[in-house]
Formats: sequence, structure tokens, C-alpha cells
Amino acid sequence: MDKELFEAALAARRNAYAPYSKFAVGAAVRTAAGNIFTGCNVENASYGLSCCAERCAIFAAVGAGEREFAALCVVADTKEPVSPCGACRQVMTEFKIPEIILANTNGDVKIYTPQELLPYGFTL
Ligand code: THU
Repeated sequence: MDKELFEAALAARRNAYAPYSKFAVGAAVRTAAGNIFTGCNVENASYGLSCCAERCAIFAAVGAGEREFAALCVVADTKEPVSPCGACRQVMTEFKIPEIILANTNGDVKIYTPQELLPYGFTL
């Protein structure tokens, strides 16, 4: 398990903007080049515009020119490691992130592949 990635996700969680749900989430992706990009959930008064931490992290990496990934870690204050939403699973599938580390703030982790999280996901 990539401990540095977990710590980066935990730190990013502190930036969560979640005044509506009060549910703070942090995420971090490690690129194939070894760089880490982070994201947090960013909500909006128009709820449907909110973006999850995982997609914010992946999009930050892609925006910086990186499209190859080694792993993603997502963390929230949940009893079990946090379970990503369907939209984020589809985006993880798009970028073929090989290792998805689900975590909680206690440090409990579960590791999956995108295929395990989203069987028969949409591809072109
Ligand atoms: N959320 C994430 O950022 N990632 C997840 O894996 C689950 C849900 C956010 C979206 C929203 O801001 C809040 O958590 C409650 O759904």
C-alpha cells in the first residue's frame, strides 16, 4: 500500500468544501511518472454541480498533462473504507487506474481494481 498516497489524500480531505453534506472526502492519485495529484469534494448550492474528490484528483493530473496512473487513494471518515460513487468508478475505468485504495480516516484500507468496482463499465 502506498502510504505516501494515503497521507496525501488525508491532507487533501482537509480542503473539502462540503457545507451541504458535511461529508469531507480527500483523494490522491499517483501517476506512472511518480507524481501525486490531489483533490477534495467541492459542493455547490446547486447540488448536482458538486464534484467528488476522486474526479477532482484525476482531472487535476490530466490537466497537468499526465494520463498514465499507478494508483488512487480515497479517504473519508466512514466506519468501513469509503465506497466511491458510480460516476467516479466510470472515470477510474476510463484511465485504467490499476490500484484503487479505499480508506477511512482510521487507516483501514481495501484495495480493488476498477474492473472489480465497475464490472462491464462503459468503453468506446
Ligand atoms: N463524495 C466524494 O467526494 N467521493 C466519494 O467517493 C463519495 C461521495 C462526495 C460527494 C458529496 O460532496 C459528498 O461526498 C456527499 O455525497
